[in-house]
Amino acid sequence: MQNTMNLYDWKDSYSVEISSIDDDHKGLFRIINQLFDAMSHGKARGLLDETLNQLIDYTKTHFRREEMYFSTTNYPETLEHKLQHEMFIEKIVALKKGFESGDKEISIELIKYLSDWLINHILISDKRYMAHLKKYGLT
Ligand SMILES: [Fe+2]
Repeated sequence: MQNTMNLYDWKDSYSVEISSIDDDHKGLFRIINQLFDAMSHGKARGLLDETLNQLIDYTKTHFRREEMYFSTTNYPETLEHKLQHEMFIEKIVALKKGFESGDKEISIELIKYLSDWLINHILISDKRYMAHLKKYGLT
């Protein structure tokens, strides 16, 4: 398969060694790339809006999965971690509203913000639960 150049690709160093979570993260980068692609090719607002909605839905589903793992394993840092999830969802929902009301445009800065947040969250917060979840047999 031919490799296309994507600006925001998932990298092996982002792995938390739990395949369902890595797959979710890969999916999130895929949608961020789609958003970038749609923006840089001047695609219709409707497509951008749809992609942004997809990002929100996918993110919510992914956070729910992580939080389910936290609760089934009694992860001690659940509260702090969930707070980060909630703040991120609030932020992207606000961005979407700004975009829909016509106040804000989808910009390269916005897409960079999303990918930077995600990379930081994976490398710092998600990596923290890795050993704990693996101890409970999650693979
Ligand atoms: Fe997380």
